[in-house]
Amino acid sequence: MSFSELFLLIVRWSHLVSATAWLGGSLFYLLVLCPALRRAPDAARTINEAVAAEFRVIVETCMFVLLATGVILTFNRLTPGVVGVPYAATLTVKIVLAIWMFVLARGRRRQTALMRMYKDEPTPMPNSRMHRAIQAVSGYNLVVVLGVIVFLLSDALKVLFESALDSQ
Ligand code: HEM
Repeated sequence: MSFSELFLLIVRWSHLVSATAWLGGSLFYLLVLCPALRRAPDAARTINEAVAAEFRVIVETCMFVLLATGVILTFNRLTPGVVGVPYAATLTVKIVLAIWMFVLARGRRRQTALMRMYKDEPTPMPNSRMHRAIQAVSGYNLVVVLGVIVFLLSDALKVLFESALDSQ
């Protein structure tokens, strides 16, 4: 294995581990921790704040690694001139969705800081179907939905790249 192959292997591995840590952690937060905390409302706020503080460090590290390694992977895929329009279009959609995830995650960080400022304000309960629907596709729920789509697009990119290589 040459040095450049080893370097690309490490870049790919870092990208995959960061993506898995971010999406896996977010799924655990939404599907396991949130329902569990709803059953223990007394301890919920303290635990939620402690978990959010720890998870924020992981998310920020993952975003940095994903961005840095994503740029390297993009150059690696585009420079040999093997890929066609379908690959470029899929990659563009993936990058737009990834940036949307980054913006939402950073917005969430500001939101947590604001929540800490207004700690004693009671959280309004969702009172209408519309409100519940908006909540379902906002904030961290949306980050998870986008993450799942980004994973699918990443697999599609792999398939498109391999078929472009085959047709060479
Ligand atoms: C601007 C940010 C990003 C860029 C530029 C980027 C770019 C890329 C590129 C070019 C590939 C290689 C695709 C191929 O095999 O041809 C890739 C793979 C991948 N990306 Fe990203 N990506 C970004 C963010 C993300 C995010 C946010 C996630 C998920 C949370 C993600 C998940 C993945 C996964 C799972 C793979 C497959 C890795 C493998 O099979 O080794 N990426 N990415």
